[in-house]
Amino acid sequence: MDDFHKTRRLPPYVFEQVNRLKAKARAAGADIVDMGMGNPDLPTPQHIVDKLVETVQNPRTHRYSASKGIPGLRKAQAGYYERRFGVKLNPDTQVVATLGSKEGFANMAQAITAPGDVVLVPNPSYPIHAFGFLMAGGSLRSIPANPGPELFDALERAVVHSIPKPIAIILCFPANPTASVADLDFYRDVVAFARKHEIYVLSDLAYSEIYFGDVPPPSILQVEGAMDIAVEFTSLSKTFSMPGWRMGFAVGNERLIAALARVKSYLDYGAFTPIQVAAAAALNGPDDCIRETRAIYKKRRDVLIDSFGRAGWDIPAPEASMFAWAPIPEQFRHLGSLEFSKLLIEKADVAVAPGIGFGEHGEGFVRLGLVENEQRIRQAARSIRKFFEEADSDSKELSKSDA
Ligand SMILES: Cc1ncc(COP(=O)(O)O)c(C=O)c1O
Repeated sequence: MDDFHKTRRLPPYVFEQVNRLKAKARAAGADIVDMGMGNPDLPTPQHIVDKLVETVQNPRTHRYSASKGIPGLRKAQAGYYERRFGVKLNPDTQVVATLGSKEGFANMAQAITAPGDVVLVPNPSYPIHAFGFLMAGGSLRSIPANPGPELFDALERAVVHSIPKPIAIILCFPANPTASVADLDFYRDVVAFARKHEIYVLSDLAYSEIYFGDVPPPSILQVEGAMDIAVEFTSLSKTFSMPGWRMGFAVGNERLIAALARVKSYLDYGAFTPIQVAAAAALNGPDDCIRETRAIYKKRRDVLIDSFGRAGWDIPAPEASMFAWAPIPEQFRHLGSLEFSKLLIEKADVAVAPGIGFGEHGEGFVRLGLVENEQRIRQAARSIRKFFEEADSDSKELSKSDA
């Protein structure tokens, strides 16, 4: 398979190694608490499911749908942006519905990248942010994943030293995997920079509604002039617990949206119409289900940080997203994130995602998804505490016998 030009650019997922070990442990009867994947475990709210069931009864909805999304769905997404961010969007020219935001991102990369084009991608990053562009023939230059001064230094250096000049900057806040967040001032500076250098910005806002403080994550499109250079991706996967439905959006700059719509018109006929109708109902519907979901993730976050802390693993509390980005405890750091993750499965029945799977600068960390319930998070903390204690006494034995 590695003989093909495209597949050579897609190394086997690092996560596959952890997944294999997890499957093996489960087959042997282990009860693995799985915080490795970012796969939301909550059910989709009932009124959205009901809308799907009702719509699917109508045979007219069984035909090919509209590749860029049915008008009612694009209008619903524009309504969400206006309510939530105060951003006005033209549903016909500034909104495309995608088969999950991941598909939208990957096909946007296909649409705008010429061979050898340079793209500035956070490292560590959600894998499609890098591989979407690699598959499209682009080359990557890494930038820091946190929205601090180092990121701007890296951007300044990139425009001076990249040949050819970068075509796009990728941003993702609240971030997967680091859970870091950005404020509007940060986006203002990015937009000013990108406009000055005529570089596009692709912002991934998949966690727009999963936040734990008082200030909701902003949209880059709230910044004046952002529409000239930016598109933003959002998703129903986390907001409405609909990961399997595959429903997301790209919105913003008309040129980029038109390019994506063109590529998609060759590739797909859009999501199944009942899914689109139910997605519109989700966006137009009551938002108490969003608040409930947010509260559940927040509670899980609190339980995770507290119980793991008491087990001897200090993890910074994430302000948003579905993840905690955990530094590997000192005594295991020399192992690296992949070996440490394997050890956690073997010795503590807990699966996590190794930081290295998100890029070289993810080394030294593992990502914990808030996708298990509170009781199972506590169960994981207890096993981890036992594992740490055993590892501690093993190493004391070892140093005694060395002496
Ligand atoms: C940052 C980020 N973007 C996009 C996605 C994919 O979302 P979707 O289900 O809409 O494709 C994820 C999923 O984990 C994510 O973490």
